[in-house]
Amino acid sequence: MSVLSVDNLIYGYSKGTPFETGALRGVSLDFEQGEIVALIGHTGSGKSTLLQHLNGLLKADSGKVLLEGVDIHSSKEALRKCRFNVGLCFQYPEQQLFESTVYKDIAFGPKNMGLSEEEIKSRVYSAISYVGLSEEYLQKSPFDLSGGEKRRVAIAGVIAMEPKVLILDEPTAGLDPMGKNALLKLIKDYNHSTGSTVIFVSHNMDDVASVADRVVVMNKGQVAISGTVEQVYSKGEFLAELGLDVPEITNIFLELKKNGFDLGETAYTVENAKNAILRFLGKGEEI
Ligand SMILES: Nc1ncnc2c1ncn2[C@@H]1O[C@H](COP(=O)(O)OP(=O)(O)OP(=O)(O)O)[C@@H](O)[C@H]1O
Ligand SMILES: [Mg+2]
Repeated sequence: MSVLSVDNLIYGYSKGTPFETGALRGVSLDFEQGEIVALIGHTGSGKSTLLQHLNGLLKADSGKVLLEGVDIHSSKEALRKCRFNVGLCFQYPEQQLFESTVYKDIAFGPKNMGLSEEEIKSRVYSAISYVGLSEEYLQKSPFDLSGGEKRRVAIAGVIAMEPKVLILDEPTAGLDPMGKNALLKLIKDYNHSTGSTVIFVSHNMDDVASVADRVVVMNKGQVAISGTVEQVYSKGEFLAELGLDVPEITNIFLELKKNGFDLGETAYTVENAKNAILRFLGKGEEI
């Protein structure tokens, strides 16, 4: 059974007004335990709206969200379970820090879950280390931190709830290259060490290729295409029609193919391009 699935979700903002939007127009998806899924799509395609349905912040006009097979809106308990097991980190989550210390901010979620002080403390310490900050940060005010550090603290607050599904809306937006790479590593490490499912939105196709197991492409409130990175990125022209850019290296491979040099697969990172070229030249793969 999928850990989380959505079945034919339909949702519009500003219902009954001239501003009514069809933000989700029949979205069905399954998310499996332990996979990293990237959600991509042009601005306004419905990514953030979909994420907010996954932890029950928004309720669809029709359709269902199932957490381990249970409709999250079927009872108060089911919705509560969903809030604690599906951790959602908004875009620019640092704007939501509000406590006087980093410790209190990270402890906020676990406290709401009704955990003991001891358990809360253990989770806060483990979460801060996950996001690569030292324990000294715990007594600082969140407002004295850099932008990248604040982002990590906000993410630690969600991780401290130990959600089965961690959802991040554009986690690397606005970060410098170092901060961005650290965050992508965090996503991978968290997924590997906890076996949790991670769903994240990104506008950067290179980042997606380096982290995701599966890619879901949204367009105008619907799923346009979904599959492995290789399956999705090989549809370069289709993605371009949706206003998305495949990585530069993928474009080069698609052009080579058009010109008669079929290297056997679509490259989406420089590393797998190098290996495909070496194989093509009969020189084997470098280790
Ligand atoms: N609070 C809101 N009120 C009214 N309409 C909204 C609201 N939030 C989003 N919309 C509309 O719903 C549609 C989907 O928006 P959504 O924010 O889910 O897209 P997105 O894919 O996350 O875009 P982006 O990449 O810009 O973050 C758009 O047409 C948007 O204008
Ligand atoms: Mg969005």
